[in-house]
Amino acid sequence: MERPARLCGLWALLLCASGRGSSAPTETQLPVTNLSVSVENLCTVVWTWNPPEGASPNCTLWYFSHFGDKQDKKIAPETHRSEEVPLNERICLQVGSQCSTNESENPSIWVEKCISPPEGDPESAVTEFQCIWHNLSYMKCSWLPGKNASPDTNYTLYYWHNSLGKILQCENIYREGQHIGCSFDLTIAKDYLFEHNVQIMVKDIAGKIRPFFNIVPLTSHVKPGPPHIKNLFFQNGNLYVQWENPQNFFSRCLYYEVEFNNSQTETPVIFYVEEAKCENLEFERNAEDTICFMIPGVLPDTLNTVRIRVKTNRFCYEDDKLWSNWSQAKSIGKMPNSTFYVTMLLIIPVVLAGAIIVLLFYLKRLKIIIFPPIPDPGKIFKEMFGDQNDDTLHWKKYDIYEKQTKEETDSVVLIENLKKASQ
Ligand SMILES: *[C@@H]1O[C@H](CO)[C@@H](O)[C@H](O)[C@H]1NC(C)=O
Ligand SMILES: *[C@@H]1O[C@H](CO)[C@@H](O)[C@H](O)[C@H]1NC(C)=O
Ligand SMILES: *[C@@H]1O[C@H](CO)[C@@H](O)[C@H](O)[C@H]1NC(C)=O
Ligand SMILES: *[C@@H]1O[C@H](CO)[C@@H](O)[C@H](O)[C@H]1NC(C)=O
Ligand SMILES: *[C@@H]1O[C@H](CO)[C@@H](O)[C@H](O)[C@H]1NC(C)=O
Ligand SMILES: *[C@@H]1O[C@H](CO)[C@@H](O)[C@H](O)[C@H]1NC(C)=O
Ligand SMILES: *[C@@H]1O[C@H](CO)[C@@H](O)[C@H](O)[C@H]1NC(C)=O
Repeated sequence: MERPARLCGLWALLLCASGRGSSAPTETQLPVTNLSVSVENLCTVVWTWNPPEGASPNCTLWYFSHFGDKQDKKIAPETHRSEEVPLNERICLQVGSQCSTNESENPSIWVEKCISPPEGDPESAVTEFQCIWHNLSYMKCSWLPGKNASPDTNYTLYYWHNSLGKILQCENIYREGQHIGCSFDLTIAKDYLFEHNVQIMVKDIAGKIRPFFNIVPLTSHVKPGPPHIKNLFFQNGNLYVQWENPQNFFSRCLYYEVEFNNSQTETPVIFYVEEAKCENLEFERNAEDTICFMIPGVLPDTLNTVRIRVKTNRFCYEDDKLWSNWSQAKSIGKMPNSTFYVTMLLIIPVVLAGAIIVLLFYLKRLKIIIFPPIPDPGKIFKEMFGDQNDDTLHWKKYDIYEKQTKEETDSVVLIENLKKASQ
């Protein structure tokens, strides 16, 4: 396991390549002793060692250490090194000593100590783990069950942060479709804010799955709360929007998106705002926590609706992907009342129909007035000539009677036909 060190750190690489490092050291430094490893909190891994035995009193001891793949090289006088590492893989630290901070100067051979991942089937550990820190006040983590985990696995999540002082268990496990999650309160004093990460372990109560570790930096995956629009007003043909940032966030740490809808244009207009300020705005400048944005050329006699969302930016945070929820929308201006339109739309046909009916009715009356019933000259003659035409009248009556009976029989036949058809 131990072999002579060939230190080819980044800046030592040139020396190694030029053959400087290959010359046999005249006086070999002895290796460090008693290198051991332990885990604190959930995944703070601590390596400790003792100085080499029989070190020269003329030597001021410095220790170099790096991970197996020569990553994260460190030279320090302390005899320990601690790192936060998710313990899902085997991790090895290599430690050696030398008499100066100069890497090329006669280093000792290094010794190595590894820490193994937890026991269990790697395919049973949870996957697609992610956490979002909402509003800097609570963290919500979610994951998918491992391929080889039984479907009725009862998960638990433990979390640790320096400000909490101890490991805590998350109580609010929930299911959301395929995903399982847990949310816990996490408010961190500003002094601690960017110093430490949150360490997380997900395992199951029965101990059947392989525990999963994660380190969540507090400078990423932050979802701010929604901003709050305080004021909308017109000035010189421009629309000004004033809003309050979500609590706990500095305005220089946020970017903004302002969505603007106007009743005359169909599609919303979206402004991406990196620095929100209103120039030449005379009043309401005093409020420090109030942010302002100007939308140019807006007509006051239309209905204007605005809403805003925010996200963290790269000045203060490591990522800028998570938008907050939208703020409440706020409107200004006038628009022909839409309910008025709806009622008009309902009322107009009714009124029209009524008008037509009335019109028809009057038309009939009008017809009577315009075309009065033509007087029947026969009637007049009848009256004039009395009973003279009695015979013809009788004949006519008979004729009508015959016609009626014929009609009746017709309808009987028709009904019977119908009956037949329906059978
Ligand atoms: C290594 O550890 C053993 C036992 O803890 C101790 O006796 C020994 O002195 C240590 N070696 C050094 C060089 O400190
Ligand atoms: C320490 O340094 C002094 C002066 O440079 C030298 O005389 C002495 O031999 C050195 N001691 C050892 C143990 O190398
Ligand atoms: C390291 O030592 C070499 C020679 O021993 C010297 O040339 C080089 O400048 C030193 N580097 C530093 C950073 O002191
Ligand atoms: C999970 O808990 C439920 C109820 O507490 C229990 O019935 C079930 O057997 C548990 N699942 C496992 C894998 O232990
Ligand atoms: C955000 O957190 C603060 C306290 O830090 C709280 O007062 C506020 O209500 C929270 N906002 C939301 C939207 O949860
Ligand atoms: C703007 O209009 C779009 C599409 O009609 C809608 O989804 C959105 O909520 C509106 N936004 C505002 C601030 O009214
Ligand atoms: C954001 O919106 C979602 C979905 O509407 C809601 O469940 C959640 O509570 C909101 N978050 C905040 C901080 O208001």
